[in-house]
Amino acid sequence: MTRRGIILAGGKGTRLAPLTLATTKCLLPIYDKPMIYYSISTLMLAGIENILIITTPEDSKAFQNLLGDGSNWGINLSFEIQPKPEGIAQALIIGETFVDGNPSCLILGDNLFYGDGLEEKLSSASQSENNNLFSYKVHDPERFGICEIDMNKKVISLEEKPLKPKSDLAVTGLYFYDQDASEIAKSIQPSDRGELEITDVNIEYMKLNKLFSETLDQDFMWIDAGTNKSFLDASNFVFTTEKEQGIKVACPEEIAFRKGLISKEKLEELSHKISKSDYGKYLINLLK
Ligand code: TTP
Repeated sequence: MTRRGIILAGGKGTRLAPLTLATTKCLLPIYDKPMIYYSISTLMLAGIENILIITTPEDSKAFQNLLGDGSNWGINLSFEIQPKPEGIAQALIIGETFVDGNPSCLILGDNLFYGDGLEEKLSSASQSENNNLFSYKVHDPERFGICEIDMNKKVISLEEKPLKPKSDLAVTGLYFYDQDASEIAKSIQPSDRGELEITDVNIEYMKLNKLFSETLDQDFMWIDAGTNKSFLDASNFVFTTEKEQGIKVACPEEIAFRKGLISKEKLEELSHKISKSDYGKYLINLLK
């Protein structure tokens, strides 16, 4: 059983309009690279090499032009469309054939994760048989989906934007599921807003005592880049981190090279194609 990754990269992006009127959110830049690079990098750090990207019908071609079949980064990329944005949990239904009875990891294309030790946390969640959310400590829990966990990290309550939050742990857009996730997604009903809610899938797992949460503390960065402010915050964070640390945040070529998924020759070929940009120069430097 090998875990497969699903990136949900469609949606309307109404909160970012007019940026999203003629293009889709996950192709917009976060500082020096398209937003979709960040979720792909997160899955690659988790050790996932088979990834399905779900997009709107209009934008599928643009994603394929940008990313190809993944072979440049030593991974396999597949593409599916979501005809209408009918909810995050629908990704598990659209992805059922792709997942093919394996465990999965669903990530929202506008969620960025970064921090020391992230790779260890991700790969351990990926190798675990538990269903795992990733939660992030926030100062304003009333604004988020909040989970409460016990001493064993088991999720014991889940609430959307609670008036009286039971914890300060916001549920992020990164979910590791066992092979039952598609079946569970098919069993839930659309919410009042007409969407298949991922929270309802998580509640089903919680009722079965099968849902756990890995906590990311303040040493980590999590940004849901869905509003103008958080979209800019994300670029500012990446700019500052890259400048101060002399590294690149979420560079799939680098991750692929370090993991041995691509050869030095391949990295060289990729870097020469974009050698005029700082990103390309960074890749050239990795070869030294
Ligand atoms: P949201 O940010 O909740 O939705 P959105 O991107 O459509 O934005 P807005 O609220 O501003 O209209 O979605 C989170 C991510 O999941 C985002 O990358 C889009 C994606 N998504 C889909 O691809 N299909 C869906 O049905 C939903 C609900 C979200």
